[in-house]
Amino acid sequence: MSEEQEINSGLEGVVVAETSLSMIDGQNGILRYRGYDIDDLAQTTSFEEIMHLLWFGKLPTQSQLDELKSRLSSHRQLSPVVKKVIADLPSTGAPIDAMRAAVTAMAMEDPDERSLEMDDIQERAIRMAAAFPTMLAAYLRTREGKEIIDPDPNLGEAGNFLYMMNGEKPTDLEANAFNCYLILVAEHSMNASTFSGRVTFSTITDLYSAIAAALGCLKGDAHGGANARAMEMLLDIGTEDNVEPYVEESLKIKRRLMGIGHRVYRARDPRAKHLMGFSESVADLKGDRTWHNVAVRLEQMTNEHEFFTERRLYPNVEFYSAPLLYSLGIPIDAMPAAFAVSRVVGWTANLMEQLPNMRLIRPQARYTGPETAEFKPIDQRS
Ligand SMILES: CC(C)(COP(=O)(O)OP(=O)(O)OC[C@H]1O[C@@H](n2cnc3c(N)ncnc32)[C@H](O)[C@@H]1OP(=O)(O)O)[C@@H](O)C(=O)NCCC(=O)NCCS
Repeated sequence: MSEEQEINSGLEGVVVAETSLSMIDGQNGILRYRGYDIDDLAQTTSFEEIMHLLWFGKLPTQSQLDELKSRLSSHRQLSPVVKKVIADLPSTGAPIDAMRAAVTAMAMEDPDERSLEMDDIQERAIRMAAAFPTMLAAYLRTREGKEIIDPDPNLGEAGNFLYMMNGEKPTDLEANAFNCYLILVAEHSMNASTFSGRVTFSTITDLYSAIAAALGCLKGDAHGGANARAMEMLLDIGTEDNVEPYVEESLKIKRRLMGIGHRVYRARDPRAKHLMGFSESVADLKGDRTWHNVAVRLEQMTNEHEFFTERRLYPNVEFYSAPLLYSLGIPIDAMPAAFAVSRVVGWTANLMEQLPNMRLIRPQARYTGPETAEFKPIDQRS
C-alpha cells in the first residue's frame, strides 16, 4: 500500500459487494427487502414469508410457505448433543455466546459440514434458523435450573420462541409483536456482522464458522448489543422527569445515548415506528408503560436538542426494540441473542448470494513500525 493511499478506518461509504437482498436509503429513511418497502412487510407478513423472500428470492405462495414451515418445524428440535452442550455451559455467560457454542456443536455433528453445494447451504440455513429460537430459549431456561421446553409444531418461529422461553403460550399480540421484530431486523445490507460473516465465508470455510463469526460481531455494543445497552440506559434514567438531566449529563461527560445514531441513516430509522407501536401496545398489555414513556420522552428531547439535530442523530432500530423486548419478558442480556434469532436469516441469505462469486476478502494495512530491527538472542536482550 502506498504512502499516499488514504486510510478509511471505518470503511464508511466503501462498496464491497453487490446485493439484491436489501436496499437502504439512509438520507430518506427507507428500507426495502428485495424491492418491498419494509412498511408493507412489517405488519402484514409472517417471519417465515420473509425467510422465503430472502433465501429464495420471492414472497411465497401458500403452498411454498406451508412447505417451508414444515421444513422449519422438522428442524426446530435440538439434537441431544446440542442440548447437552447448552445445559453444560456456565450459567453466568452471555446468551449470544451460548448460541455460538451451540452453532459450533451443530457443525461438529454435521458429516457434510464443509459442503458448499447450494442445496446443502440452503438446507443448513433452514436448520440454523429453525434451531436458533430453541437454542436461546433452552439456554435461558437451563441457566435458571428449569427444564427445556420442546417446540410446539403448531406455533411459528415467533410464537414458539416466546412459548419455549416462558413455558406459556403467548397472546396473539405478543406473538405478533415479536413476529414484527423478527421481520424488521432480519436483513440490513452490509452491516458489520454480515460483513464479518462474508469475510469468514470468503476463506472457503463452512457456513457454521461464518455464522459463529457473525454472532461474535453482532454482540458488540455498536451493533446488536445496543438493544441491551439501550434498555440499561432507560432503567438508569428511571423516570420521564429524569430524561432531561440525563441527556445534559451525557453530553457533558461525552456518554453516548444508546439506540441513537446510525452509520447509514441520517433520518429516523424506518423500523422504529413499528417497534414504537408494539412497544406501547405490549406495555399496555402488561400494565406498565414506564419504559416506553421514558423512551418516548428521550426521543422528543433528542428531536429538540441541537447537538442531535445538527448531527442528524435519530433513534435507530434498537431504541424501541429495548422496551418492546423487555415487555415481552426477554432478559436484558439475551436481547442481542434475540436479534440473532432473526438476523441469522439475513446472514445466510448473504452467504448464499456470495457463494457463486467467492473471492477472498483481504484488505491491506499501512505498515508504521520500524523499517528494520536488529535481532538479538534472548540472553542478550535488555
Ligand atoms: C451507531 C454508531 C456506532 C454510528 O457511529 P458512526 O457512524 O461511526 O458515528 P460517529 O461515531 O462518527 O459519530 C458522529 C458524531 O455523532 C456523535 N454521536 C453518534 N452517536 C451518538 C450517540 N448515540 N449519542 C451521542 N452522540 C453520538 C458522536 O459523538 C460524533 O460527534 P462529534 O462529531 O462531535 O465527534 C453511533 O451512532 C453509536 O455509537 N450509537 C449508539 C450505539 C447504537 O445505538 N448502536 C446501534 C446501531 S444500529
